[in-house]
Formats: sequence, C-alpha cells, structure tokens
Amino acid sequence: MDDDAIRGAQRTLWQAPRIAAEPAAAVGIAALLTGAYKPAPGERVAVIISGANMTVAQLDGRQHGVREQGGTPVPASAELRFRAACPGDSQAIAALHAGSWQRHYRGAFSDAFLDHEAIGYLLPLWTERLATPDPRTRAILAERDGTVVGLAYTLLGQDATWGAFLDNLHVAYGLKRRGIGTRLLALTGQAVLDWSPSSGLYLWVLEQNSDARAFYAARGGVCVERGQVPPPGGDPARLNGQPTGLRYAWRDPSQLLASRP
Ligand SMILES: CC(C)(COP(=O)(O)OP(=O)(O)OC[C@H]1O[C@@H](n2cnc3c(N)ncnc32)[C@H](O)[C@@H]1OP(=O)(O)O)[C@@H](O)C(=O)NCCC(=O)NCCS
Repeated sequence: MDDDAIRGAQRTLWQAPRIAAEPAAAVGIAALLTGAYKPAPGERVAVIISGANMTVAQLDGRQHGVREQGGTPVPASAELRFRAACPGDSQAIAALHAGSWQRHYRGAFSDAFLDHEAIGYLLPLWTERLATPDPRTRAILAERDGTVVGLAYTLLGQDATWGAFLDNLHVAYGLKRRGIGTRLLALTGQAVLDWSPSSGLYLWVLEQNSDARAFYAARGGVCVERGQVPPPGGDPARLNGQPTGLRYAWRDPSQLLASRP
C-alpha cells in the first residue's frame, strides 16, 4: 500500500467511525478501500485495527506540511471553504455519504445494505464519478480544516420539465444546522444558472426524512410529485419494502442565491 492509500484509509476511519488509527493499523482498510484486496462474493471480512500512535492533526497533514488534495495548502486555522471536488476526494466523499445514509436512510434502505455494503457501493461510484467527470455534472464540497464536511452533487439538464437534478446533498452530522447545507444549495443554484439561466432545479427526498423536507421547504422548494424510491444499484434487496420519495423543485434557482458563501 502506498502512503496516499494509507492516509486515505486513516481519514476514512476517522471521518466515519471516529477511529484514530496509526498508518500501519490502517493498511488492511486501505487494501479494501483501494480494491487491492477484493473479497469474494459472500465472504465475511474482519480487519484488525491496532495502534493509535497518531494525532488527528497529522491526518490533516498539518504537522507534515502535506498539501490537501486539489493542491491547496490548508493552514491549521483554516475556516470553512467551498470548492469543486477532484479525484483524490473519492474516499472522503464516500465516507461522508455512507455515514449520512447510515444515520438518515435507516428504515428506507435495508440494515444489511447500510451496515455492510454502503461504503463498498459508494466508493467505486465516487471514484468513477470523479475520475472521468461528465461535463454536465457539478460536485461541490464544503471543507473545514482539511476535512470534507459537506457535499452537493448535481446532474445538469436531467429533466425536460424540472431541469437540473441535485442527486446528493449531505452535511457531516455534527455540523448540521450551521448553514452549510444552505450554502451548498446556493452554490448549486449558481452553477445551474451559469450553465443555463432558464433551468430549474429539483431533487428527490425520502418521505420519512422530515428534517431534510423541512430544510428544503424553508429554502423555497416546492413538493411537486411522489414516487417510489429506486434501489441503490438497482438491487431491490437494498430497500426495506417500497419506500416513497418526494420531488422538491425550484422553478427559478435564483431564489437560492442569497446565501452564497
Ligand atoms: C438536510 C441537510 C443537507 C441540511 O443542511 P444543514 O447544513 O443542516 O442546514 P442549514 O443549517 O443550512 O439550514 C437549516 C435551516 O433549514 C430549516 N429547517 C427547518 N427545519 C429543519 C430541520 N428539521 N432540520 C434542518 N433544517 C431545518 C431552518 O430554516 C434551518 O435554519 P435554523 O437552523 O437557523 O432554524 C443536512 O441536515 C443533512 O445533511 N442531513 C442529512 C442528510 C440528508 O438528509 N440529506 C438530504 C437528502 S435528500
């Protein structure tokens, strides 16, 4: 395993389950995350993570002068900042996304999928999305002190009626209700209008996700349609029954711009 893979695994261990692992202790997870070790179908994998001879500051590269992915040095006192995602972000994004699903999608997605498969499903998805970005997508990150704490991923021109599709919006659990989601939504609205001033913006939210629905309603989104939630990767076993989703839409995304960073 090279240093980047091990550091990525250390970050993932810290960002999702809050495990502080020294480099040697993260090698097994790095092998799984990078696909260097591919479990056989149905194989149960146990990884021993032993050794915490490190600090969280080292993960951010602050003590070693490591540059954050994207090439920008991050000072120790870095504030919240927003930037486009790049290929080196796939592990951090997958960890944020999987952690958010585990907390907020339980009941709609199956426990087996959330607890055992979500990261394995999301890491290749994000790796592929960011390795060869479609020019009609926008991936915007919120970052604090070098850690990815928010994500908005949008597909432009997806629907003839409703316009651009905000496929993923997630904020780190401990940082909810501090304005990060609002600013990600504002930057998304700006990106959509930059692409096409006449485009609308829409998303699908689980009916059970009352907090997110309240957030979208407070940001001017209007619920325009109900529909069945498609299973992740098309596998119905990943859902619990047939959960319902709601389409929220902004005919004019300029109403979101007031909260740009
Ligand atoms: C939904 C989410 C993206 C919102 O981002 P956020 O950073 O928490 O939201 P903000 O702080 O920008 O805005 C919060 C505002 O939304 C409105 N709001 C109303 N009810 C709310 C609720 N139950 N929860 C959150 N926001 C609510 C309020 O105006 C609130 O402002 P206030 O906290 O000053 O009252 C974020 O909470 C999240 O990641 N949730 C888990 C994942 C998820 O459900 N994603 C959406 C998938 S469709």
